[in-house]
Amino acid sequence: MPELDAAPPQRLCASAELQERGKAVSFDVIQWREPVRAFALRFDGQAVAYLNRCAHVPTEMDWQEGEFLDGDKRFIMCSIHGAVYEPSTGHCVMGPCTRGRLTKIEVTERDGQVYWHPTRDTKPAFEG
Ligand code: FES
Repeated sequence: MPELDAAPPQRLCASAELQERGKAVSFDVIQWREPVRAFALRFDGQAVAYLNRCAHVPTEMDWQEGEFLDGDKRFIMCSIHGAVYEPSTGHCVMGPCTRGRLTKIEVTERDGQVYWHPTRDTKPAFEG
């Protein structure tokens, strides 16, 4: 359900840029007035997006820009201490993230484009 004071959906990238289990597309958001990187990737056909912030220590997780998946391309893996997350849900399944989860950002696809949905807490970078 859309939030009343949230910004409208923001174009993120073309759907074709998110290849199945391929490289992620990074984007910037503002969460609680702080700039935070976020990323989107495609897993089992679905575009998903999360803040690029590990549940173990709040740091960016990709081992190279846009590379979040493990060697088998089955899980999102933090490059710092190896926390393992389920790509579809962001839930930690193994490692030092214990029962944590990634902060999910809602995304939708329409007419070959991917959009992310701001909330009251997570806003487009240009809004501050
Ligand atoms: S910072 Fe991600 S596992 Fe420790």
